[in-house]
Amino acid sequence: MVNFDQVWTRHLLLFVVILIIYFVSEARGAWQNSVKAKVVSKLQEHKVDKFPGNQTHSDHFKLLERDGNYLLVGTKNIVYNISLATLQEKKRLEWFSSEDDIKVCRVKGKSEDECQNYIRVLALKSESVLFVCGTNAYKPVCRDYNQTENEYKYVEEHSGEGLCPYDPNHNSTAVFADGDLYVATVAQFSGADPLIYRKPLRTEQFNLKHLNSPNFVSSLHHEDYVYFFFRETAVEYINCGKTVYSRVARVCTKDKGGPHKYRNRWTSFLKARLNCSVSGEFPFYFDEIQSTSDIIEGFYRGRKSKIIYGVFTTPVNSISGSAVCAFRLDDILETFDGPFKWQEDINSNWLPYQNSKVPEPRPGQCVNDSRTLPEMTLNFIKDHTLMDRAVPAYWSQPLILHTGFGYRYTCITVDPQIETVDGSKYDVLFIGTDTGKVIKAINAASASSDNKVVPVIIEEVIVFQNQAPVTSLLVNNFAFQLKLIVVSKDEIYSIPLHDCERYALTCSECVALQDPYCAWDENRQRCTSAEPRGWLHGKFVQNISHGWDDKCPEAELGTETTSTTTNAPTCPPCPLECACPSTEGARNVTEHELGQPPNSEGSSGGLYPHHQASRHGGDKEGDTVSTVDSKPRDNGAMTGAATGYVGMYSAETLAIAVTTSIVTSLVVGFISGYIFSRRCRNDDVDSPYDDGHYLEQHHRSGPLCQETTHLNHGEGFLSPGTNNKPINLVLNVPPRNGNGKNANSSADNKPAQKVKKIYL
Ligand SMILES: *[C@@H]1O[C@H](CO)[C@@H](O)[C@H](O)[C@H]1NC(C)=O
Ligand SMILES: *[C@@H]1O[C@H](CO)[C@@H](O)[C@H](O)[C@H]1NC(C)=O
Ligand SMILES: *[C@@H]1O[C@H](CO)[C@@H](O)[C@H](O)[C@H]1NC(C)=O
Ligand SMILES: *[C@@H]1O[C@H](CO)[C@@H](O)[C@H](O)[C@H]1NC(C)=O
Ligand SMILES: *[C@@H]1O[C@H](CO)[C@@H](O)[C@H](O)[C@H]1NC(C)=O
Ligand SMILES: *[C@@H]1O[C@H](CO)[C@@H](O)[C@H](O)[C@H]1NC(C)=O
Ligand SMILES: *[C@@H]1O[C@H](CO)[C@@H](O)[C@H](O)[C@H]1NC(C)=O
Ligand SMILES: *[C@@H]1O[C@H](CO)[C@@H](O)[C@H](O)[C@H]1NC(C)=O
Repeated sequence: MVNFDQVWTRHLLLFVVILIIYFVSEARGAWQNSVKAKVVSKLQEHKVDKFPGNQTHSDHFKLLERDGNYLLVGTKNIVYNISLATLQEKKRLEWFSSEDDIKVCRVKGKSEDECQNYIRVLALKSESVLFVCGTNAYKPVCRDYNQTENEYKYVEEHSGEGLCPYDPNHNSTAVFADGDLYVATVAQFSGADPLIYRKPLRTEQFNLKHLNSPNFVSSLHHEDYVYFFFRETAVEYINCGKTVYSRVARVCTKDKGGPHKYRNRWTSFLKARLNCSVSGEFPFYFDEIQSTSDIIEGFYRGRKSKIIYGVFTTPVNSISGSAVCAFRLDDILETFDGPFKWQEDINSNWLPYQNSKVPEPRPGQCVNDSRTLPEMTLNFIKDHTLMDRAVPAYWSQPLILHTGFGYRYTCITVDPQIETVDGSKYDVLFIGTDTGKVIKAINAASASSDNKVVPVIIEEVIVFQNQAPVTSLLVNNFAFQLKLIVVSKDEIYSIPLHDCERYALTCSECVALQDPYCAWDENRQRCTSAEPRGWLHGKFVQNISHGWDDKCPEAELGTETTSTTTNAPTCPPCPLECACPSTEGARNVTEHELGQPPNSEGSSGGLYPHHQASRHGGDKEGDTVSTVDSKPRDNGAMTGAATGYVGMYSAETLAIAVTTSIVTSLVVGFISGYIFSRRCRNDDVDSPYDDGHYLEQHHRSGPLCQETTHLNHGEGFLSPGTNNKPINLVLNVPPRNGNGKNANSSADNKPAQKVKKIYL
């Protein structure tokens, strides 16, 4: 009996191993274009400024306003005015909730921490008057403060209903435009009444066609309009289950409301879906917007355009994916001029509304006096706020994308139009993750005139050691203080925008970085940045689009030789996607250097021992991250992205990769389950369900191992509910299986261990 069991298991294992090897090779083929960070680094303490806030209690930082060289940060009971250059506190505004308000809040069942005054909205009404709103222990209040020499003087108080959320965790956004405050938030204690509001105009209350459980992300003022970016439950998605779409909405700043019963309603509120997807027969959508950049004006695809970058993710309980898409302002405007979407009755499909039937004047436009608009137009806009077409992504595809369980993107900021040596310009994207990292990336083809995307991830910096999610980013590009401000819930760091010398010692390495900030100075023989912003003197070698230049002498020498630095690996000139094996030596240098030994600074005389941490293609497991930090946090992450070089991932490729992993996972899951159950019967120490807990730590959203609600995620072949479970098993079982032993130590785990490689 026992014998039979063993033989059977062995055969099955063999079969599985073969199957896996097959799938591994398949999947490798599908994913070999993935873009890896050229440099993975830790911060060097001496180059970082920090604003700690309250050391003993959680701050809940929220960046509220930039005032020239100063930054206004809202926290619990305090607004800090800190210097952007040094992150020193300059002034503070303290505002505590009254004892009575706190008492009432506590009676309503909120915790002591919730019953504080979280400052969530702030606007500069004038040079000296600050308009500040706080949650005030679940009783939002706004105040005017007068700024004097050393302090802020309280002037007057108004109700904050509709201007500030009750719940400090609610995602609200506000912008001050032409003297008015525009806010997207929720009213009511329960948070049940979302609205976009400017006194006295608001969106329809409890009308799901206006707003349906929205999470507001950002708001921008441009010319006649204020734009709001948010994600919400899609009312037009009428298959079973529900899904979330990303939206852009706009209102006109000249809107004065309608006549009579419309006097406190927007006459100009329209919204449209944002389409961030990988195209294909079944496009793969990144449907949940998380953050946007400001409006950026630049030269793209051979013409001048205004664009907005946004970070999009898949739903939390589905296969984890993040993408950066860009949208052109003109495309947004065009969508708002296109057909409306409508639904004849509650059970019918959502269809485009016939243009000829749309009343005149066209609803949702900016008019001189909205109070004179005819009833027809206003009735129409009440029920037809959604546009039929989705705003297409500029470049028709994501610029950067990442799939896998390592991390998700949370926020983005852009240092726009950095001029390179030859005069072309690139937007440098800084993307924050939910694991405390910041990714620096460009589209190396953005300066060319065709619709091409060549994603380059220049650098991945581990900013928050405790892996706190990055909540916002800001580029401080004042002439001599080029810094990136990185914010988490409890910390604010200011880190260098670039560090050319640290990452490249030779010409070819410098050029291969493809960093628009960095070029090889032929006179001084150094990889340097432009000072302050311009490449005026001297001869510089730089090639952002290809990362290769034959002016670099060592480029011709081939792979092996290294000139001066013994331990530094040399990479052949890497045109986009080459594999430069990172040698053992490289790893040691990396670890040493990144570990920031306190004395390395002095001894090396300012020249940091350079490294090429895992330039793309290090073949080892977890190479990107584990070079720096041995914790295998990013097991199985695929920093996949569109490579215009070989061609963008098509949805089909994604499909193949995903299906492959699913099938593999199912098989492995089954086997592991089988084996575990056998082992557990013996040991009875750990149940296989432990893996579930492990997963939950990684994904804040909880019960991944249960059936989820999104069973029929309509578009796309990825139906999250059914897929995530097996994938989780593959990726996460190995490190913590068995009795918590390391995967390597147990022979039973070999199959699972192999599978992991798919994702490297
Ligand atoms: C930190 O916050 C706590 C509670 O809000 C407060 O009692 C303490 O004084 C604060 N510390 C500083 C340094 O502001
Ligand atoms: C922030 O503090 C600086 C320095 O005291 C001051 O000049 C600036 O006006 C302050 N900004 C705001 C909005 O309070
Ligand atoms: C606010 O400050 C301005 C100028 O600093 C002053 O004229 C005004 O009287 C102040 N208002 C209050 C209420 O203190
Ligand atoms: C706000 O947005 C964050 C990030 O997307 C999300 O994790 C959080 O759940 C949102 N808050 C609420 C109250 O929905
Ligand atoms: C979104 O864009 C993709 C790629 O351009 C396209 O295939 C798809 O049909 C678009 N989806 C919608 C809803 O417009
Ligand atoms: C709106 O007002 C502007 C200036 O006040 C005027 O030039 C324009 O003709 C007006 N438009 C309409 C449609 O009345
Ligand atoms: C970069 O290299 C490519 C291929 O060698 C070349 O076509 C292009 O002109 C170069 N760009 C610059 C700015 O030197
Ligand atoms: C790198 O480090 C490992 C162990 O830390 C050591 O065995 C190996 O010899 C080192 N390699 C070099 C080139 O120093």
